[in-house]
Amino acid sequence: MALRTIRIQGDPVLNKACREIKEMTPKISTLISDMLETMYDANGVGLAAPQVGILKRVVTIDIGDGPLVLINPVILSSDGTQTGGEGCLSLPGKAGQVTRPNHVVIRAFGEDMEEFEMEADELLARAICHEVDHLEGHMYTEFVEGDLYDVSYDDEEEEA
Ligand code: NI
Repeated sequence: MALRTIRIQGDPVLNKACREIKEMTPKISTLISDMLETMYDANGVGLAAPQVGILKRVVTIDIGDGPLVLINPVILSSDGTQTGGEGCLSLPGKAGQVTRPNHVVIRAFGEDMEEFEMEADELLARAICHEVDHLEGHMYTEFVEGDLYDVSYDDEEEEA
C-alpha cells in the first residue's frame, strides 16, 4: 500500500466524469488499498478516485463504522433532507453548509464485484452523496449555501 497525492480544487481531474469499473484487476485492488490508506492518513471520512487523479468509479468511506468500498455506486432513491457542515480533502481547511438527502438507497459493487443494495442515513448518506458527486466531477462547493468558512483540525470537521 502507498499514500497517494490528494488533488486540490483547481486540478481539472476533479471536474471530469469517471468511467465504470468492469472487472477487478490487481491495479484496481491496489488503488482501493491506497485510497483507504490515503483517506485514513488524511483523517477523512471519504475519498473518491478522482481525488487521487484516477477517473474510475470507486469511492472509500469510513464514518467510524469501518471501511466501506463502493464500486460503480448509483443512488436509486433518496428522501428527507439534512443541512450541515461539509468539507472535502480536496479543499483542506474549508467547509460550508450543504443540504443533502437524509436517507438514500444505493446499488454498488463490492471489492468482490458482487452487486449489492444498501440504505444509509444521516452522515453516511451525506458522505455517499458527496463521493458520488466526485465521480461526476462535482465538488460540494457547487452546492454550498452561504459562504465557505475556515476550519482547523481541532474542529474535527469531517472532510471527504
Ligand atoms: Ni470531497
